[in-house]
Amino acid sequence: MAVAQLTLDPAFRIAPVDPRLFGSFVEHMGRCVYTGIFEPGHPEADDDGLRTDVLDLVRELGVTTVRYPGGNFVSNYRWEDGVGPRGDRPRRLDLAWRSLESNAFGLNEFMRWSKLAGVEPMMAVNLGTRGVEAAAELVEYCNLADGTAAADLRRKHGVAQPHDVRMWCLGNEMDGPWQIGSLTADEYGRLAARAGHAMRRVDPSIELIACGSSNSGMPTFAAWEATVLEHAYDQVDYISLHTYYDPEKFDEASFRASAVDLDGFIDDVVATADHVRAKKRHSKRIKLSLDEWNVWYQSRFTEPEDRGIEETPALIEDDYNGTDAVVVGNLLISMLRHADRLSLGCQAQLVNVIAPIRTEAGGRAWRQTIFHPFARTARLARGTVLRPALTGPSMSTGRFGDVPAVDAVATHDEQTGEVSVFVVNRGTEPVPLSLDLRAFPKHRLREHVSLTADRPEPVTRQPTEEILLPPVSWHALCLAPEESM
Ligand code: AHR
Repeated sequence: MAVAQLTLDPAFRIAPVDPRLFGSFVEHMGRCVYTGIFEPGHPEADDDGLRTDVLDLVRELGVTTVRYPGGNFVSNYRWEDGVGPRGDRPRRLDLAWRSLESNAFGLNEFMRWSKLAGVEPMMAVNLGTRGVEAAAELVEYCNLADGTAAADLRRKHGVAQPHDVRMWCLGNEMDGPWQIGSLTADEYGRLAARAGHAMRRVDPSIELIACGSSNSGMPTFAAWEATVLEHAYDQVDYISLHTYYDPEKFDEASFRASAVDLDGFIDDVVATADHVRAKKRHSKRIKLSLDEWNVWYQSRFTEPEDRGIEETPALIEDDYNGTDAVVVGNLLISMLRHADRLSLGCQAQLVNVIAPIRTEAGGRAWRQTIFHPFARTARLARGTVLRPALTGPSMSTGRFGDVPAVDAVATHDEQTGEVSVFVVNRGTEPVPLSLDLRAFPKHRLREHVSLTADRPEPVTRQPTEEILLPPVSWHALCLAPEESM
């Protein structure tokens, strides 16, 4: 059996762990909001209709920040529809998903939910059917205390304190022909710069995220990022990346190695952003926001044109298996490995829609398999990300050729001394793992949690000297200084 050898050293630092890497996404799509996080009359709902059973799971998941309200939905959304007295809110046809939107849940409900969930809200503005004025007024509504029309409107709606939203997405997937109001890179770059400029006049302290390509397979990928940043470099702090991995699109081994694709995608966007930086002789480095990522059985998706108009349809409620969970664990490893430039991540989405949490209307809420690697990684990744030196067997894939079967990253919490190692075996052979802890001579394995494709529930193993990585498995190893055990 080929052995994987993993050497850890605190000197192999990548960057501090940014808690915002463990974000998620709530879109007005399908049953994410309605009968997901919000269901008045549900036995577990509070007085505001927020499902407390779902809130408990969101807190357990360890989500740190949540993007809202879309997604494709935002590109035809009027934020004013979702504020003020419920009885006055209009019912609209949402063109993104061809769904009926009651507007019973809107901005202030989301902010209240965010507080209860303990997450930082991240807002997206509509740059599809709307533009500079609506975006600036939304910042004013959210972030100014009083004395202006929009801030006073919020107060009239019963919210005295500003929401103080830090992170703002300038539209969503504006390169996608499916996007309502899609634009060329030049059109979008100019609009993002103008909207960002106005929004910063309202609140100079906000952080702005420009839309990158909808995925790395778009024909304009990289050229889009370069053009957008040529226009908007001064205004923005982040460029976004979106990526979904479809288990049924390529051969199975390629799916298991999806993190190889994510590694390359992130590196390409970093290179493109730095190319513009060099051209502009700018001192600022653009950060990356992976604000939509997940496993999605996309080939099973029915296009909105092929469905009837419904209110709260069950859209893309994918059921996940053990392999999907291992892939999600590996994608998180890739994200941590790029923590020097990737500062934000949002798994898409949070509830029901390609989600770690599922619900029944009027019934129970439960964890999907992909919940587990996310929850463990979000809880254990603390301190500084370390790059382990790793050797081991390789596996062959149709899409990427030969790739390492074992992948890993580590974090070191300098405060507690704890070291967490996240490891996957994405191959179909078992691999013994040998840990070289010469730089941590007093550390011992305190906990070993793992899940496999065959057994997707996490199992806590007895820490032993011998670590065996079963085929298609994900592991979190917690090492602690001997004296603290
Ligand atoms: O998350 C589902 C959809 O995928 C989002 O609305 C869109 O941004 C992406 O294409």
